[in-house]
Amino acid sequence: MNLKNKKLIVGNWKMNGTQESARDLAADLAEKWFATPSCHQIVVCPPFPYLSITLNRLFGTEIACGAQDCSIYEKGAYTGEVSAFMLKDIGCDYVIVGHSERRQHHRETSELVCQKAEIACKSGLIPIICVGETLADREGQKTLEVLEEQLKTSIPVIDQGFAIAYEPVWAIGTGKTATTAAILEVHTFIRTWLQKNRKKAADALILYGGSVTDQNAQEIMSLAHVDGVLVGGASLKAETFWQIIQSA
Ligand code: PGA
Repeated sequence: MNLKNKKLIVGNWKMNGTQESARDLAADLAEKWFATPSCHQIVVCPPFPYLSITLNRLFGTEIACGAQDCSIYEKGAYTGEVSAFMLKDIGCDYVIVGHSERRQHHRETSELVCQKAEIACKSGLIPIICVGETLADREGQKTLEVLEEQLKTSIPVIDQGFAIAYEPVWAIGTGKTATTAAILEVHTFIRTWLQKNRKKAADALILYGGSVTDQNAQEIMSLAHVDGVLVGGASLKAETFWQIIQSA
């Protein structure tokens, strides 16, 4: 994945909205894109049932669509699962894997996350692989240690495109953002880790996520090794999300 000087700005809608609100949000974003096209790569990740309607409304723009998860399996008797192939088939380009909410509420391990990332790449999607420490990890001075373990086990050994999202668990949906010094430290750590351990993916994009808003996005995205942002709450309103995009 080569976005050169572009940022990757991803909206994670999580389990919010209705068919109508998804359609309206996508239509608003399309309208904004046509009025002032952005040079950055924009991605929205609606819930599964609203992917098609979102893709439909975004048609003609360069705003891409992603899913919030995928199966580790290719196809077959796996009731309730959605494969990476199916996501690609309907027009998705990205998929978020290993979000801390899935690690926490669905007991997803880093090994599983790695399998999801691998099958996503194999299916032609770009996985956005999430890592991040808890508050207890940070307070116990274990942030880098925990992250290293997550990177080792969640990041596949491949040279195809993937992105990493650093999302401190305690900053997600809490209104608390990591300090710029902390973000810089972790992003530099991840970049160095990639250079040493995944040489062919040394330039993989590293996003920051956790209470990103139109107020703090510019400062965060100006930091070294911050190649974009993963936005939850603030991506649910076209106006705020667009301001984040314009601040890049
Ligand atoms: P938030 O969520 O922006 O609402 O904190 C970010 C995320 O979970 O990806």
